[in-house]
Amino acid sequence: MIITLDGPAGVGKSTLAKNLAKHFEIPCLDTGAMYRILGFKLGVEVADMKDETLEKALDEYRFSLKKVNNEHVLFLNDIAIGDEIRTERVGRLAAIVGALPLVRKALQKYQRSIGEQSSLVTEGRDMGSVVFPHAFVKFFLDARPEVRADRRFQEMQKKGVNADYQEILGEIIERDKADRQRATDPLIAAADAITVDTSDMDAEQVFTCLIQHIENKMQEDTQEFSHLAKDGSLSMVSVEHKAQTMRKALASAFVTMNENTLDLLKQKALPKGDVLSVAKVAGIMAAKRTSDLIPLCHPLMLSYVDIRFDINEKGVGIISEVRTCHNTGVEMEAIIAVQIAAATIYDMVKAVQKDMHIENVHLLYKEGGKSVFKSPDFKESLL
Ligand code: DC
Repeated sequence: MIITLDGPAGVGKSTLAKNLAKHFEIPCLDTGAMYRILGFKLGVEVADMKDETLEKALDEYRFSLKKVNNEHVLFLNDIAIGDEIRTERVGRLAAIVGALPLVRKALQKYQRSIGEQSSLVTEGRDMGSVVFPHAFVKFFLDARPEVRADRRFQEMQKKGVNADYQEILGEIIERDKADRQRATDPLIAAADAITVDTSDMDAEQVFTCLIQHIENKMQEDTQEFSHLAKDGSLSMVSVEHKAQTMRKALASAFVTMNENTLDLLKQKALPKGDVLSVAKVAGIMAAKRTSDLIPLCHPLMLSYVDIRFDINEKGVGIISEVRTCHNTGVEMEAIIAVQIAAATIYDMVKAVQKDMHIENVHLLYKEGGKSVFKSPDFKESLL
């Protein structure tokens, strides 16, 4: 799920984007930080650089979003981007580099590639209009320049920083002009964006308003993604208009065994041979055959399937992990994989013990679609 927030300087996109990302437990991408750090590194001379020199300079910079202490942090090469970019001077430099088509092309490539890997709340100037045309929900936030200047002024005063309201207002008007009037990808609302004028709203009201729009869209989508056609007959859901993103699902199951059987299994001394190796292959093959087994499930090109085992004194825990870069999820593949791996274990062991139970089959984790799901027994170390 990609949620885009576009809008002018000082409208409050960063805080909102962070709060939305936290709410939906997905990463947040501040694309302004990418332009800012390039402005910071390249300086005003960038405007006079020859294309060749600029291309060479851009080749030196690689962006990535990495998880650090449970938070997603934007890295330039191997260094986390810090507060050095949060000044008005760097903001102006960002607007200068942001006007250069070569810079935009390079940064948009990174932004799209980050969006292909996971769900995202992403904020900037051209997220909905250019970079993510198929985003799940697009917002365009606006507010009168005087209101934005006043918010900045109050914020700085709170921090004890000396500030001049008129100066801030002037800077905001100047940056609006640069962002809205540049030739390449100017600041505009995408045709299908929801425009929210926040001039007379506080931060909490804006947050609630956006959440409401997103939840409405999710509900509409759930109704649209019904397996029932309008006349009540069964139909396969059409997913071609959904975004292709990296999707991942983990499922687990448990096969109970007595101590004697477990000993034989660990020693690979069961009459049918190496149970877990066979169960692993069976689980992987089953994941690939899911759409043949579940009537309305879409056939998918899987990019990865793994089956892992965790033996304890009560039996064998099975975890499947399935990944794809597609427009629908892989939960069913993960669930089928653990069930067939479990049934294979049963088949390989039943000569020795028949009262084994296959228990606790469930989805552990999924990401990449509209929402992230984590079951209570999911641990981050499983990823
Ligand atoms: O959102 P911000 O103030 O951090 O952005 C700084 C500048 O970066 C902004 O004035 C224009 C540029 N920018 C852009 O051109 N496109 C984006 N997607 C994000 C920022």
